[in-house]
Amino acid sequence: MKVLGIETSCDECSAAVVEDGEKILSNIILTQIPFHAQWNGVVPEIASRKHVEWIYGVAKDAIEKAGLKVSDIDAAAVTSRPGLLGSLLVGLCFAKAFSWARNIPYIAVDHMLAHLYAPMLGDIQKPKYPFLGLLVSGGHTIICKADAFDDITVLGTTIDDAAGEAFDKVSKYYNFGYPGGAAIDKMARNGDSGAFNFPLPSLHKGGFTTGADGRNIQCHRYDVSYSGLKNAVINQLEIFKIKKGPHSNEDIAASFQKAAVDTLLRALLNAAEDTALTTVVAGGGVAANSYLRAKLSEQSHLRCIFPPLDLCGDNAAMVAGIGYHYLARGERSPLNEAASARVSGFKKRYP
Ligand code: KG4
Ligand code: ZN
Repeated sequence: MKVLGIETSCDECSAAVVEDGEKILSNIILTQIPFHAQWNGVVPEIASRKHVEWIYGVAKDAIEKAGLKVSDIDAAAVTSRPGLLGSLLVGLCFAKAFSWARNIPYIAVDHMLAHLYAPMLGDIQKPKYPFLGLLVSGGHTIICKADAFDDITVLGTTIDDAAGEAFDKVSKYYNFGYPGGAAIDKMARNGDSGAFNFPLPSLHKGGFTTGADGRNIQCHRYDVSYSGLKNAVINQLEIFKIKKGPHSNEDIAASFQKAAVDTLLRALLNAAEDTALTTVVAGGGVAANSYLRAKLSEQSHLRCIFPPLDLCGDNAAMVAGIGYHYLARGERSPLNEAASARVSGFKKRYP
């Protein structure tokens, strides 16, 4: 089955053709970075407008690059949640129109589940369920137990900022470049990660912590938090500088990255220990981080599987890939399917 995937949840306009959920025939990813860079962040209205302009050409390209005609496509799959609502609606409406015009089925899929599916594409020895998932993107940070491609139980999340968001905000504050994650990753290679001792959050089972709005939030040792680290890097730098002497921007980038990744690792290793799961599958933009990949690969008791770098960020191949499995068991989305800015329907359980 040849599935046309459509992904417009944020600032990448992407279309892909994937055969039988495995073989990538094409994967076109058109980034909007130049249009958002001057604002140091994604401007939702610009993102939606660009998707409207680009989606037809990107989808056409994907079908042509796959060496196919429109009539060769058997079904479509599209991200309908979570993401920027205006951006999601462009891809969703395109997929609906495409399937209606061609009288073929389409399926709306969850972006985070698609990220977790990304490493399954291509020629790898597929991990067996259940495994631990580490989903780290610009909007989400989720540690989960995956029992099937469509069945995850959330064990831990961020209680404030997402991992990618912390990279982006620190980078924005210091003018390190946009998007922040890749910029900090690159700078950190020439920095001393021990230059600053940024704090790791202390979250434990049954504990409570105060949220940004002052409410008490229950937390767990699989949860992570980034607002303290972000504030330390942004606000307390002068204090660190006085104590430790002058340091380069690269040192700041490396020290921040170490703390950000160590925070994730600690929660993930706690979950691995308690669940006795030994396979970890990572996905999302932050899964491209070289320090995270190196540190996880050092965990000799775990088998860690990462998507190739071009499938870590947002792409339509992962959408077509996971979409195939729903379609293959006969599922179809209706033409009045809604888009949603938030994740929904995930089970959450504190063991
Ligand atoms: O999955 P993604 O492309 O979009 C969302 O679904 O949010 O993730 C984007 C996030 C951004 O916050 C970006 O800064 C971060 O992934 N990112 C990285 C790296 N490459 C992208 N973070 C750390 N290190 C990287 N190399
Ligand atoms: Zn994403």
